[in-house]
Amino acid sequence: MNAIVAVDQNWAIGNEGNLLVHLPGDLKYYKEKTTGNVIVYGRKTLSTYPGGKPLPNRTNIVLTRSADYENEGCIICHSREEVLEAVKDYDPETVFISGGAETYNLFFDDVDTFYVTKIYESYEADRYFPNLDELGFDVVWESEMQEHKGTKYQFLKYVRSNNR
Ligand SMILES: NC(=O)c1ccc[n+]([C@@H]2O[C@H](COP(=O)([O-])OP(=O)(O)OC[C@H]3O[C@@H](n4cnc5c(N)ncnc54)[C@H](OP(=O)(O)O)[C@@H]3O)[C@@H](O)[C@H]2O)c1
Repeated sequence: MNAIVAVDQNWAIGNEGNLLVHLPGDLKYYKEKTTGNVIVYGRKTLSTYPGGKPLPNRTNIVLTRSADYENEGCIICHSREEVLEAVKDYDPETVFISGGAETYNLFFDDVDTFYVTKIYESYEADRYFPNLDELGFDVVWESEMQEHKGTKYQFLKYVRSNNR
């Protein structure tokens, strides 16, 4: 299973319910990676999507503790176990944990491949992703440096090393 996340240089991912910065190139990358695939995310992240609606052309799995929560076009799950049951018939390579912090933490041990957009800036933040560099995960691929309005960023692929 994969996770896909954009972090700043402190591994921050969000502030006050929003992304840290708008990077059209990163949104395009996210769309390329996830279109036709399965995305799993928390109810708070869904509320940040346009109109609070699921993203098109993907299987959208939303996590909530509310028994009566509904949103057209979403598969609603109420626990980690329910999500694992919902994705069990999909190829794990097509499943992307897509945030936010609570959801990344919940599935951290289930993920073996991490698509990380590293933004070379420091932002004010209240949500973080585990620091894969400090945890000793291996970078197996990195893109060329990207830039948007002076903000430098890069796409990296990390994998869980054998002893983790
Ligand atoms: N940089 C990135 O790549 C990226 C990606 C996605 C999101 N974000 C950012 O992350 C922030 C949101 O993250 P967040 O951690 O606050 O929220 P979140 O993970 O998006 O959603 C949290 C919600 O998920 C549900 N949930 C969590 N654990 C559950 C469990 N064990 N069982 C059932 N439901 C569970 C609960 O929904 P209910 O309250 O409905 O019960 C909980 O309130 C925002 O700032 C967003 O912009 C950043």
